[in-house]
Amino acid sequence: MYSIDQLELEHENINRVNAVIQKISLDILHGGEVPVEDLRKMVDFIRDYGDAYHHGKEEEILFTYMMEHLGPVAEKLVRSGMYVEHDQGRALVLDLVAALDEYEKNPTDEGKLEILTNILGYRRQLRSHIDKENDVVYPFAVKNLPAEVLEKVEEETKEFNEKNVEVREKYTAMLEELEAKYMN
Ligand SMILES: [Fe+2]
Ligand SMILES: [Fe+2]
Repeated sequence: MYSIDQLELEHENINRVNAVIQKISLDILHGGEVPVEDLRKMVDFIRDYGDAYHHGKEEEILFTYMMEHLGPVAEKLVRSGMYVEHDQGRALVLDLVAALDEYEKNPTDEGKLEILTNILGYRRQLRSHIDKENDVVYPFAVKNLPAEVLEKVEEETKEFNEKNVEVREKYTAMLEELEAKYMN
């Protein structure tokens, strides 16, 4: 399905940023400088692409239809599971921004630890969130939503993606730039 393929592709892109996070963390561990500017770019990626674009699409379309049509199991899986995890990710990013601001004012080893704690915390949280969606939540939706509802998911996903071409292009380019810099 187009909509699910797109969501999974977005997960791959988020995991590619997670790989850059891992590499930057190792560099810092080995005594490298904290690349504050690139980490701020990654915050933009996480917020605008990972959250507003990807989580926004899940929340607006697929998850909304799941809660409407799939009863208490979906309610539990989505509202008490996925939505809570989206919020946890947002909180981790807020803490990361605070750690970056503090480090710029006062660059200490403790400040580096604070940054590492938050970027690696985000990476771990998102990886596990993505695995749950790929392995459990999306297959559950595809298997159980009525065909006409899945058709609506497809249409609305296409509309959403057409409306947000610029976001997708901007952050695909940023991802490639970060990989070229850190993943060689
Ligand atoms: Fe999600
Ligand atoms: Fe997701």
